[in-house]
Amino acid sequence: MRLAVFFFLATILATCNADCHIFQEGQIYLLRPRSGAAGHRLEGVDCLSWRLAVETNNLQNWGSLPESCEEYIGHYMLGKQYRHDCELVADVEIKYAKSLKLAGDGKDIWIFDIDETTLSNMPYYARSDVLFGALPYNDTKFNEWVAEGKAPAVPGALRLYRTLLSLGFKIVFLSGTKEQFREVRIANLKAVGYHTWEKLILKEDADKGLTALAYKSKRRTELVNAGYRILGNSGDQWSDILGNNTGSRTFKIPDPMAIPYNSTKFNEWVAEAKAPAVPGALRLYRTLLSLGFKIVFLSGTKEQFREVRIANLKAVGYHTWEKLILKEDADKGLTALAYKSKRRTELVNAGYRILGNSGDQWSDILGNNTGSRTFKIPDPMYYIG
Ligand SMILES: *[C@@H]1O[C@H](CO)[C@@H](O)[C@H](O)[C@H]1NC(C)=O
Ligand SMILES: *[C@@H]1O[C@H](CO)[C@@H](O)[C@H](O)[C@H]1NC(C)=O
Ligand SMILES: *[C@@H]1O[C@H](CO)[C@@H](O)[C@H](O)[C@H]1NC(C)=O
Ligand SMILES: *[C@@H]1O[C@H](CO)[C@@H](O)[C@H](O)[C@H]1NC(C)=O
Repeated sequence: MRLAVFFFLATILATCNADCHIFQEGQIYLLRPRSGAAGHRLEGVDCLSWRLAVETNNLQNWGSLPESCEEYIGHYMLGKQYRHDCELVADVEIKYAKSLKLAGDGKDIWIFDIDETTLSNMPYYARSDVLFGALPYNDTKFNEWVAEGKAPAVPGALRLYRTLLSLGFKIVFLSGTKEQFREVRIANLKAVGYHTWEKLILKEDADKGLTALAYKSKRRTELVNAGYRILGNSGDQWSDILGNNTGSRTFKIPDPMAIPYNSTKFNEWVAEAKAPAVPGALRLYRTLLSLGFKIVFLSGTKEQFREVRIANLKAVGYHTWEKLILKEDADKGLTALAYKSKRRTELVNAGYRILGNSGDQWSDILGNNTGSRTFKIPDPMYYIG
């Protein structure tokens, strides 16, 4: 299945160079439920139902796309249906905007989210190393794509934007993109035709740690306190259009693709310190101790979780160790491979001999000073580079 998708996407990308519009005609696949010859339901996720549940916010915090739906979502996003769905929302937005009577004091604003609302990351999502979010989210990779500043406009969005301007609205872009990307975002917006705006609000360091919902609510509240009237608010994520001061009317732009990996959620789980031992690991650990080995735990977990990690390790039977190395602030920005290599090199420089090295990620056991012998622990769930 994945191979088929890969070839499908490769074909699209190979025939689509920089100046070709990504939303081509002709990539149309029927949006029918999974049904057998006589209309009987097939086992498994019905991808159309799944998409509807996502768009209506009935399904929340779903993490990543069901693997069986990656092909369906790919066809949906690259085919006609996504464009039609977006254009219809734009029609409704324009009809609503035209029905309003503006005060004319420059305080009537329309808020746009950026990604998948104003600018489309489709060329990124359609890549064979992203697969519409069915593959694990890679922050570095996504940021590299953002830095290229090559995102096209979302279908219908430019039409809405121009109409709003002609009606006298002021435009506010409110995005979760970090401040550091301001220049490339501006270049990208201008390149596709968004030439003017009242404000372009990006995420500052002070907003770090806020959920998308809290961040957007906070910024909108600041706008309202500054005397702006939010008459319309368009976003592809429910967190764009829920919360405080959402505006007189909100519009949900279609987007059934995977949202980024939720580190808050994973960290909450780590903080619970309830992870059981991996099968076989405790037996190996005890045997190594009895043979006289010293144990070094080397993990990508952040230092702030030291206490909960220790509690968790002890709770399941790992009582002693030579070192428990966690990721420090100074290691931020290093890939897992570079971080682990650096730490192992420090151990070797301190005179330790690494005789064995066990990890579930290839980045645990590749790089420098990997040890006399490495062991790959099974883990088909995720990949850390
Ligand atoms: C909405 O405003 C209330 C009152 O100021 C505040 O307690 C709440 O946290 C806000 N909600 C969000 C999502 O920011
Ligand atoms: C991430 O997880 C936290 C904690 O479970 C949750 O409150 C938050 O809504 C999640 N964020 C997203 C974008 O799903
Ligand atoms: C391995 O060591 C070499 C030489 O010090 C260094 O250039 C390289 O970046 C290291 N590789 C990793 C993955 O840390
Ligand atoms: C994430 O993307 C960066 C940049 O493209 C790449 O170097 C790295 O290997 C990727 N990591 C994973 C886990 O794929």
